Amino acid sequence: MRILSVDTKDSTYPIYIENSFDGLIDSFKKAGLTNKKACIITDSNVSKIYLEEVYEILKPEFKEVLYFEFEAGENSKNLDTITKFYSFFVENYLDRCSVLVALGGGVVGDMCGFAAATYMRGIDFVQIPTTLLSQVDSSVGGKTGIDFLGNKNMVGAFYQPKFVYINSSTLRTLPYREVAAGIAEAIKYGYIIDREFLSFFELNKEKIKNLDNDALNEVIYRSCSAKAMVVGQDEKELGLRAILNFGHTFGHAIESLSNFSMLHGECVGIGLICGVFFSVEKGFISRGEIARCESLLYYFDLPIKIRNYSIKEIHKLMFSDKKTKNGVINIVALKEIGKAYIENNASEDEIDNAIKYIIESDL
Ligand SMILES: NC(=O)c1ccc[n+]([C@@H]2O[C@H](COP(=O)([O-])OP(=O)(O)OC[C@H]3O[C@@H](n4cnc5c(N)ncnc54)[C@H](O)[C@@H]3O)[C@@H](O)[C@H]2O)c1
Ligand SMILES: [Zn+2]
Repeated sequence: MRILSVDTKDSTYPIYIENSFDGLIDSFKKAGLTNKKACIITDSNVSKIYLEEVYEILKPEFKEVLYFEFEAGENSKNLDTITKFYSFFVENYLDRCSVLVALGGGVVGDMCGFAAATYMRGIDFVQIPTTLLSQVDSSVGGKTGIDFLGNKNMVGAFYQPKFVYINSSTLRTLPYREVAAGIAEAIKYGYIIDREFLSFFELNKEKIKNLDNDALNEVIYRSCSAKAMVVGQDEKELGLRAILNFGHTFGHAIESLSNFSMLHGECVGIGLICGVFFSVEKGFISRGEIARCESLLYYFDLPIKIRNYSIKEIHKLMFSDKKTKNGVINIVALKEIGKAYIENNASEDEIDNAIKYIIESDL
């Protein structure tokens, strides 16, 4: 088992990385969370595969173990589902000593975390992420929340879990397209913080694609280390944490244009290419980095070009992103590979050129 620590101003918690659930109950014991009432929150897909196993592990060590399942998918990430959680908690007498267990991907984690942050002004929760995206990104760092009136993550709270337990073998049941989406997020850390991690990806891409245990655990470990480092310095995104948005300003626009038919990580992958292109044009990194980025994403079957959208449409959406301040976009760019900075003086032309690059034309 590999262990990492996330240290924020107000809390410190471990991330455990394993190939099984064997260490799960000890993680609860170490955190002093046993002999309580626990409620596992999961979705309709994950419950079929992992709920029973996790339930049986927790049952002997808890006063009572309850579970609540909701329909899988981003469409459930709303206040209606949260209301159902609260009702279930009240009906089953969950109190401030109870613990919530998020078993699933980012949708489960974000919602369970939000419910934990708000029910009775905050109760303990733990994260057991089961998608690669949630294992390398969303389960770490304490951002919780729900979508509201069509706006992603519009309502939420910063609320840290008591621990994160990652069983990387859960990725074996995850559709490959979802795995690849998580890989794009992991590659992002190579660009913004850890240039050697990018080389690791290139050298071990075959093993990673084949879900080799050691290679995957290394990807997860390095991603969580990078995220923990950033979050430790800037928990509430007042500065440094914004570099985690590398590729995201472009990516979010493409994601919403696709009407969410493209996965978040797929759009982030294309956004990475835009970010690399932008940084090349700024003169900070060499032109060969564009092809390098494309070939790595391509290897994992991630899209590297888009069709059917115009520069104008993407541009417009980028400027209406909620992170845009006074019509000025902050673009995360690279001073060098492994070193991100915030460019707050990007011209519209520079942005349009980067968009143009990833649009496939028939000419
Ligand atoms: N809090 C943060 O910092 C943060 C960061 C990034 C993304 N997010 C959020 O995360 C969400 C996306 O997370 P996601 O990509 O994990 O999506 P998800 O939770 O919807 O999971 C994707 C799909 O995989 C299924 N699934 C999960 N684990 C499985 C497994 N082991 N085997 C088989 N199927 C499995 C799910 O049921 C779902 O259908 C978005 O709502 C996004 O806003 C949050
Ligand atoms: Zn992301």
